Formats: sequence, C-alpha cells, structure tokens
Amino acid sequence: EEAKKIVLVNDSSLPEAKRIKIRDGSKSRESRVVIQGWVHRLRLQKGLAFLVLRDGTGFLQCVLAGDLANAYSTLTLTLESTVTVYGVIHPVPEGKSAPGGHELAVDYYSIVGLAPGGDDAITNKVQESADPSLLLDMRHLVLRGETMTGIFKVRAALLRSFRRVYEDMGILEVTPPCMVQTQVEGGSTLFALKYYGEDAYLTQSSQLYLETCLPALGDVFCVQESFRAERSHTRRHLSEYTHVEAELAFLTFDELLVHIETLLAKTVAYVLEDPEIAEILSKLNPGFKPPQLPFLRMTYDSALDWLNERGVPNEEGEAFKFGDDIAEAAERKMTDEIGEPILLTRFPVEIKSFYMQKCADDPRVTESVDVLMPNVGEITGGSMRIYDLDELMKGYAREGINPEPYYWFNDQRVYGTCPHGGYGLGTERILAWLCDRFTVRDCSLYPRFAGRCKP
Ligand code: 4AD
Repeated sequence: EEAKKIVLVNDSSLPEAKRIKIRDGSKSRESRVVIQGWVHRLRLQKGLAFLVLRDGTGFLQCVLAGDLANAYSTLTLTLESTVTVYGVIHPVPEGKSAPGGHELAVDYYSIVGLAPGGDDAITNKVQESADPSLLLDMRHLVLRGETMTGIFKVRAALLRSFRRVYEDMGILEVTPPCMVQTQVEGGSTLFALKYYGEDAYLTQSSQLYLETCLPALGDVFCVQESFRAERSHTRRHLSEYTHVEAELAFLTFDELLVHIETLLAKTVAYVLEDPEIAEILSKLNPGFKPPQLPFLRMTYDSALDWLNERGVPNEEGEAFKFGDDIAEAAERKMTDEIGEPILLTRFPVEIKSFYMQKCADDPRVTESVDVLMPNVGEITGGSMRIYDLDELMKGYAREGINPEPYYWFNDQRVYGTCPHGGYGLGTERILAWLCDRFTVRDCSLYPRFAGRCKP
C-alpha cells in the first residue's frame, strides 16, 4: 500500500538527458543520460534495487535508491521487461565490480513493456536444464542469454573478418542464386522444389556460379546459405548453413593450400583484434590458441596409415584401405590427437565430386583438400577444378549426371578455360571450433536440421 502511493516523476529541473547506447557508457560518464533496454538481472534489497540493463550493445548496472527502489512498479518489476532509465553514470566504488567498471545512478525510470512474472516468467520458459528440443522451441527467448549473444557477436565478427581479408586480397563479393537446377555435392542431399512447374533445388554450394564469374570479375567470393537434406543427426550437420566460398583463377594446387591457410589465420587474427570479441572468446573458449602458419599437411594416403597404425577402424569395422571414406569418428580421432589444424589432401577420385581435377602424378587421386580442426573436424572443403571439357564430361558420366543442365558451367571450359580452384567454409563449424561449442546448432541463429524448421 505504501509502495503504491509513491509517484515517480522525471524532475524537470535536472539537465536534459542525452540518449545513448550502453556501449557508449564510458564516454558519457558524469553527465545525465537516458538509456532504453531490457531488464537482464534484478536484485531488490531494502531501499535499494540493482538492475542490470541489456540493450544488445552491452550490460549496465543501474542503481535505484529511496523512492525509486520502494515504488510499487520496482517491487513488481520482472526480468525481460523493457524500461527507459535516466541518470548519471559513475565509476563503481573501489573494490566493487560491474560491467564497464561503472554504474548508472538512476534519477527516474519508466516501464515500456512489463514482461510476465509467475508461471509465465522467462525463467520458467528458458531453463538451462530443459530438454534441448524445448529450448529450441524457445530459441527466440534463449537467444537473449549471455552465451548465445556472445556466440552471435563472434559470428558477426567472423563474417566481418572474412570480408576484410578478402578485401585485403582484392577478391570481389558476389551473390549467386539460391534456387538452382544443378547439383554440386551429390543428389542424395538435394532439397527439391517446384519452380513455376519446373524441377529446381535449393543450392548445395555456389561453387559452379562462382566459377562462371572468374572471366568476368576475376577472383570472387560469396557468403550464401547452402542447403543439404542431410539425414544424419550429427553435431556438425545442419540442413541450412552459411557457406563462405571463393574461387580463384590461374593458380596451382599448392598456391590454393597457402591461400586457404592464410585466409583462416588472418581471419582469426582480425576476430581477436576486437577487444570486445577477444573478451567474449576468452570466456567461451579459454584455452583457444590461434592457428600457426604453416598448417600441417597430410595426404589421404598417409592419414590411412596413421589410422591403421593406431588400430582405428573404418566404417565396416575393418582396417582402412584405399577408397574408404574417413568418416566423422575416425576424423575426430585424428584431429583430437594431433591437436592442430590439418590440411588433408589428395582424396581418391571415387569419393569426391565430379568436378575435381586429378593429380598429374597419380590419376587415382584428386587435387582436393579438407581443412580439419580440433574438436570439430572438417571446416573447409576445396579443390582444383577440371578445366578440360572432355575430362569434365567423364566426370559427369562417372557420377551418372546428365551434363545438359550444366551447359553454362561447361561453357566455362569452352570460352577461355583456365586452371582454377576454390573452396567452401562452413561458418557454423568454424564457430563451433572458435567458441568451443559441442554442436554447430549453437552457432546458427535458428538451426535447421531433420525434424526442425521452427521457429
Ligand atoms: O565439403 P563441401 O560439401 O564442399 C562444397 O560444397 C564445395 N562445393 C565448396 C567449394 O569448393 N566451393 O562443403 C564445404 C564446407 C564443409 O567443409 C563444411 O564446413 C560445410 O561446408 N558443410 C556443412 N556445414 C554444416 N552442415 C552441413 N550439412 C554441411 N555440409 C558442409
């Protein structure tokens, strides 16, 4: 009853408040500011209330004293409510800590949207211990947690850094289509759709389109969603993922390998250059060591020897032999034991795609590479491309693909062919490695996998 009688007023004799975002708090100390955001944490004491405000740019501790703390609206305030707070930011007293090393002494606040309390309170909707599928149903609320916001800030920094390295290298960004009529990585993972009565697919990779850009624009890259109807429920497969791909003209396989390792090392260095991101990463992945150049190079052949020497079996439970796929479990064994990035090269023709260039010194294997990282395994797949038309036709025949819908891709080998190569990077896998997440699902805003297409 007492609390209901308190009326909060915005004192017009106080200086006018400057509207700021929390990230600019340090620059705006000791003058009156107004900030809007969400109540991230809330602690009520007698005559004192501490609320941590979140606005996406940071966190700010706000201190409410006297009437402000005792008012009914404060006593009934809930987590995730939106508020407008007025006051002055001061450094925290010696020996105390708060985000940014300061706190807002509130002189007035108002509520924009009161979130529910009780049974519908956010803490009942989003419990760490909940079943993962319930948490995915509540993804829109889970996203507000500190771990998730940290990951998505790192994600933005990662994409920004890739673009910065490409800019440094003079490689141009293009935007290929998502709706296509050709496959790149095998028919079994295509999502088919009807396109005005024609058969079409969601793209598995923009590679073929990037190849056609080379004569027009020179070296190119794209950041595009790729779609795979993966049936396997693994911690590193999504049905939709963000694919960073590049294609480079007139280079050798060795140059391609150097390009890939340089790109990855420089990108990580740029990510860590940002102090906010470095701080987030030090919490998510305290033991993270930036990769050192050059990366270890290992051929497929020597990987089989490595696995056989340690008695790691193939998928049939037998010793590895030439032509076997190195599946996830075996790959992980290698990455975890070796503990550093590996460029795994020269895979057999039969286990790779129709477009891959064969090695000049051994036609059983291709100029192909997978980049393997500790904890996740493959984060990148790339190769040199067949640039002779007849050779390419043999590739289609081997894989039982009708070359007709690929006429535009084939023309690349007719109108001024050239040696070229490229690769695709799985954004969510790189993030799982950087942020030390168990699954790529944590690294996608709204992950899609078999059985999950909501929210
Ligand atoms: O190895 P992939 O299938 O290679 C290609 O698509 C090439 N056409 C790319 C190119 O050369 N332009 O895929 C490349 C990378 C993988 O190394 C992996 O990081 C990621 O894409 N990836 C997936 N990430 C999440 N979920 C999936 N289902 C993925 N499939 C591939």
